[in-house]
Amino acid sequence: MPLQAQPNVHQQHMYQKGVKHMCDKGLTQVPNKYILPEPERPHNLVADGCISLPIINFAQLQGSDRPRVLASLSKACQEFGFFQLINHGIGDETIGKMIDVSKRFFELPFEERQRYMSSDLHAPVRYGTSFNQNNDKVFCWRDFLKLSCHPMQDYASFWPSSPLDLRESMGAYSTNIQHLYERVMEAVLESLGVTHETTLYEQGNQLMVVNCYPACPQPQLTLGLPPHSDYGLLTLLLQDQVEGLQIQHKGKWVTVKPIPNSFVVNIGDQFEIFSNGRYKSVVHRAVVNSMRSRLSVASLHSLNANFNVTPSPILIDESNPRLYRDTNYADFVDYLSSSDFKCKRFLESRKLQ
Ligand code: OGA
Ligand code: NI
Repeated sequence: MPLQAQPNVHQQHMYQKGVKHMCDKGLTQVPNKYILPEPERPHNLVADGCISLPIINFAQLQGSDRPRVLASLSKACQEFGFFQLINHGIGDETIGKMIDVSKRFFELPFEERQRYMSSDLHAPVRYGTSFNQNNDKVFCWRDFLKLSCHPMQDYASFWPSSPLDLRESMGAYSTNIQHLYERVMEAVLESLGVTHETTLYEQGNQLMVVNCYPACPQPQLTLGLPPHSDYGLLTLLLQDQVEGLQIQHKGKWVTVKPIPNSFVVNIGDQFEIFSNGRYKSVVHRAVVNSMRSRLSVASLHSLNANFNVTPSPILIDESNPRLYRDTNYADFVDYLSSSDFKCKRFLESRKLQ
C-alpha cells in the first residue's frame, strides 16, 4: 500500500536514494514515480526485434584490410549510427576487474555511496539515480556512478576511495579505453575522408558512466534510460550478457544482441554535427527486466568544453550545404536545464533552416 500511494515527502526522499536502495528494501510493484504514460512505455522488451549490429574487427583495421574495414565502418555509421567493435585488444582481466569493482561499489552500504551524490553537473564524481533526478517527472530505473577520467592525474584523487581497488581498476580500464577511442576516432575520421583532425580527440573529455539497472518487478511500465542520443563525439559501451540496450532503426525499436567482451560504439551529437549529418547520432534507450539486474559501462568522449564544434569544411559544398550551427558545451547545458526534453533532441535545436 504505501508504495502505491501518492508520494509524500518521505517517499520522494526514498526515490532520490536510488533504485537499488529501494529494491534492497523489498518491492513487488513499481511505485508510481517510475510509471511512464502508456505511449512512452516499452512495448517490446526483448526477444522480438533483436538485431546484430555491424561488426568492426579492430585487429583487421590495423592491417592490409584497412580500406575494406573502413568502408564497412562508414556504412555502419551512416545506416545504424552504431557498430560492434571486436578484437579490440583490451585484455579480459582489465575488463573483468573493472566490472567486478563496479558491482562491489553498488553493493556498498548506501551511506558510503551517498558521499558521492551531487547535483553539480560539473562534479568530477557523481553518484545518482534516474536520468536527471532534479528535473525528471517520471524517474527511470537506473542508478549510476559517473567519473571524469581524462586527463587521469586531474581526477583520480576525487574518485571513490572504496572499494579499495576502485581507483586502480577503473584507472587501468579508462586509460585503455581512451587509447582505443583515439584509434577508433582516427579510423572513423579516415572513413569520412577527413585526416589531420587530431585536435578533435587529443584534448577531449572522457566521462565513464557505470549504469546499474536492478531487476524490476514490472519492466513493461518503466525504462532504465529514456530515449536519448549521446551528446559527445563517440561512446564506447560495454554491456553485460543481459539484453537491455535498444536503438531506433528503420523507425522501430530493436534490441542490440550482446557480444561478450566487445564494445558497442556509437556516434554522438557532436560527431553528427562535425560530419555535417553524414554520420548519425541515433536515439537509443535501455529497457529493464524482471529476472536479472544489468550493468553497463559507457565511456563518453566529447570535445573539450571550451571548444566549438562546427561542420567540417571538407564535407560542405554546393550539393552538401551546411546543416548545423556551431555548438559548444554551454549551449548543451542551457538546453538541458531549459527543457524537459521528451526525446526532443538537442541536435534538432542545432539544425539550420
Ligand atoms: C548511456 C546509454 C545504454 C545502456 O549510458 O548513454 O545509452 O545499455 N547506455 O546502458
Ligand atoms: Ni546513451
